[in-house]
Amino acid sequence: MTDTTPPFWVVIPAAGVGSRMQADRPKQYLKLGQRSLIEHTLDCFLDQPGLLGLVVCLSPEDGWWSQLPCAVDPRITRTDGGRERADSVLNGLHRLAELGAAADDWVLVHDAARPNLAESDLLKLLAQLQDDPVGGLLAVPVRDTLKLADADGRVSSTPDRSLYWQAYTPQMFRLGALRSALGDALAAGAVITDESSAMEWAGHRPRLVEGRADNIKITRPEDLRP
Ligand code: CTP
Ligand code: MG
Repeated sequence: MTDTTPPFWVVIPAAGVGSRMQADRPKQYLKLGQRSLIEHTLDCFLDQPGLLGLVVCLSPEDGWWSQLPCAVDPRITRTDGGRERADSVLNGLHRLAELGAAADDWVLVHDAARPNLAESDLLKLLAQLQDDPVGGLLAVPVRDTLKLADADGRVSSTPDRSLYWQAYTPQMFRLGALRSALGDALAAGAVITDESSAMEWAGHRPRLVEGRADNIKITRPEDLRP
């Protein structure tokens, strides 16, 4: 299957402070077994022969990254993150262009805080989207019944669950289109929480690729408890 996947670049936003995790360091540097969370996250991409290069977006004050063995991996470039996740990703995309990435090249954006991406999901995303005109994202159909809340914290309705998906990462788009969409959406003051929402804002309809539910984003302390 690897032979049929396209070459790709990767941007890893990792400039967050992890406030909800309430730890003594940004959550991407918490240990998962012997190694930090971000090292597990990077593994899945570094194992792929199609990887063209990878940019990690970090806080300028980050003193943790340089202590990791992967900090000297020649395929990885460090760049500054920004105020919000979308600002960090946009910086990463600019850096990719400086590294020689072309407007038509595929870019995968993946949260540093998702260390459990399965190789089968990564290969599925690449294979299903390689000929797509827009691109798309890994996502999971919602499992629980959804409730719409009113201002008093009471249920106002129960929406049709079959129409709703949870957006995961990686999200896969072409560099030029994603850079324009994110730049324009941020300049217009739109609220952008993932790459797909920037592409939607620009009028595109990203494809949903069903992924595994265990590709979770480590967010709260209970997410790391055994
Ligand atoms: N991120 C980033 N730049 C920011 C904010 C977040 O690169 N300005 C990254 C985080 O490091 C993380 C990913 O975006 O890998 C998803 O964000 P989130 O889970 O919200 O992480 P944090 O912002 O670190 O956590 P919190 O919101 O609890 O502070
Ligand atoms: Mg955050």
